[in-house]
Amino acid sequence: MSEETLSTLLKEERKFLPRKEVIERATVKDWEKVIKEAAENPLKFWEEAAREMEWFQKWEKVLDDSNKPFFRWFVGGKCNITVNAVDRHLKTRANKVAILFEGEPGDVRKITYAELHKEVCKFANALKNLGVKKGDRVTTYLPNIPEQAITMLACARIGAIHSVVYAGFSKEALRDRIVDAEAKVVVTADGTFRRGKTILLKPTVDEAVAACPSVEKVVVVKRANADVKMQPGKDFWYHELVAKESGECKAEVMEATDPLFILYTSGTTGKPKGVVHVHGGYMVGVHRTMKWIFDIKEEDIYWCTADAGWITGHSYIVYGPLMVGTTTIMSEAVPDYPQPDRWWSMVEKHKVTVFYTAPTAIRAMMKNGEEWPNKHDLSTLRLLGSVGEPINPEAWHWYYRVIGKEKCPIMDTWWQTETGMILITPLPVSPLKPGSATKPFPGIIADIVDGSGKSLPANQGGFLVIKSPWPAMMATIYKDPDRYVQTYWKKLPGDFYVAGDVARRDEDGYFWVQGRADDVLKISGHRIGTMEVESAFVSHPAVAEAAVVGVPDEVKGEVIKAYVILKAGQKSSPDLAEDIKKHVRKELGPVAVIKDIEFRDKLPKTRSGKIMRRVLKAEATGKPIGDITTLED
Ligand code: WT7
Repeated sequence: MSEETLSTLLKEERKFLPRKEVIERATVKDWEKVIKEAAENPLKFWEEAAREMEWFQKWEKVLDDSNKPFFRWFVGGKCNITVNAVDRHLKTRANKVAILFEGEPGDVRKITYAELHKEVCKFANALKNLGVKKGDRVTTYLPNIPEQAITMLACARIGAIHSVVYAGFSKEALRDRIVDAEAKVVVTADGTFRRGKTILLKPTVDEAVAACPSVEKVVVVKRANADVKMQPGKDFWYHELVAKESGECKAEVMEATDPLFILYTSGTTGKPKGVVHVHGGYMVGVHRTMKWIFDIKEEDIYWCTADAGWITGHSYIVYGPLMVGTTTIMSEAVPDYPQPDRWWSMVEKHKVTVFYTAPTAIRAMMKNGEEWPNKHDLSTLRLLGSVGEPINPEAWHWYYRVIGKEKCPIMDTWWQTETGMILITPLPVSPLKPGSATKPFPGIIADIVDGSGKSLPANQGGFLVIKSPWPAMMATIYKDPDRYVQTYWKKLPGDFYVAGDVARRDEDGYFWVQGRADDVLKISGHRIGTMEVESAFVSHPAVAEAAVVGVPDEVKGEVIKAYVILKAGQKSSPDLAEDIKKHVRKELGPVAVIKDIEFRDKLPKTRSGKIMRRVLKAEATGKPIGDITTLED
């Protein structure tokens, strides 16, 4: 979208007020009042939220901030998130569908809360029998199928720490994440379906695991009926393991501050960061946001289109929806296969009431045209959500009009892998401004500051920071606490969490997030570090050095533009560019979309030898370069 349309739309300052029906059913009716009250005493607000959960033992202290920034929530409290996600529903919702799965080929599976309880317990027992103990790490490399959720819950049940790796990642990325986590067991599938083809997963795991001495056992879910090699004594079929197990497994009593999972996320430099989340605070923060933002009631059918491999899937496909006892949809289906109305046919078929997706998907649908959603009855929808990137006003209007039929409020939710839960967002009753995630959730204090950490007045762009701790905040970076401190608490002077985004706040206190402050790529809503992508380029035999920058793309948000220096004696050609592209796609998987490759003799670098991607980005996007005093040449 051109900047001109953006500014015209913004000048309109159209506000969308909630309809009467929305206000009537809303759990929170007075947004501003709740924000004000929570701001007066955030700890009281979060303590009340914690009281809605089941605990084995109540906390002694809501927040321990004696060792900042290692905040500890609900200290002394004992709990297990699976009790809240599964067991507590057995009395009231045993036969309600917990997970509704639709596979890419169209196969549908419905798992009730009672069945989910049984499945989780069975696999928890199986993991125990494989030698997994409290505190051990289990890596999953699974498609978006129910076993993904069941494995996460089974780990949590016995106090093991799950590390979910998105199954689109390459074997190298998987290997690095298993090595860092020192996982004892890996859970995968034989394969999955994508665009009508079978994609094998087990061979990728085999190659990765060959370089991972910590891995003792590999469990394989039969999903694709593919012919995969099983190594006796090491590889086990999931269905054979669970067939032998009992459907009862007591939930391990966990400290609120015990780790629940590690989820790796990319930074600008260095290896991926293992973001650690814990049982207690995560459970409270995710539950409260799920309940209030999506305003879930008994009759809802909720669909978040993410993959469970991302934080969105952890918090708002698996844990959040199950904790509020709704029906959560999981699917392998991509939006446009076999036709561009796949998702809309699913909304119609399953009578979805809440639909949560990403701007990149919305832009792709816009491109395909409104005749596709218009073929379907979308009248069950009452609320829409967006996450992952700023949603351009144009896409917002399309989503509002074509999908929501001008009756569904759009929850533009800002948050991060690190924050665990949504932090800036409207509630259903909030007046909406297309393109703004509106205001911090009650109990959250956010601000915009300049480079010296000083709070900025309305409409001045700066760094987005969070000034009060929140329950679902990350605990640390796995095995690298110092990196946690440096990355999030030391980038700017001041006592606050630095999100790494640039944003402004308008005269009504609405936040407008503009993007990442550093040069992490954001492709189809996925954060990808430049380091990993450049490494893939450099692993091509003809390439000496590479620098990648994100350039705006209508559909994907950003795509990769690469600057490549060839090894001596190599000649640049369109064929070579094609070959390098192919190589990188093979290395990184389909997430890495390369727009073009430009061959260069030199790259702009700092005196210390760091590539100045900012300079390349300015060139690629036709924007001013800014300060180049550190440029070497
Ligand atoms: C980054 C975090 C958390 C879910 C998925 C992404 C960007 C996320 C929004 C939004 C503007 C957004 C930010 C953030 N982002 N949601 N509603 N408006 N930007 O998780 O991969 O950890 O990425 O995504 O830049 O810092 P993630």
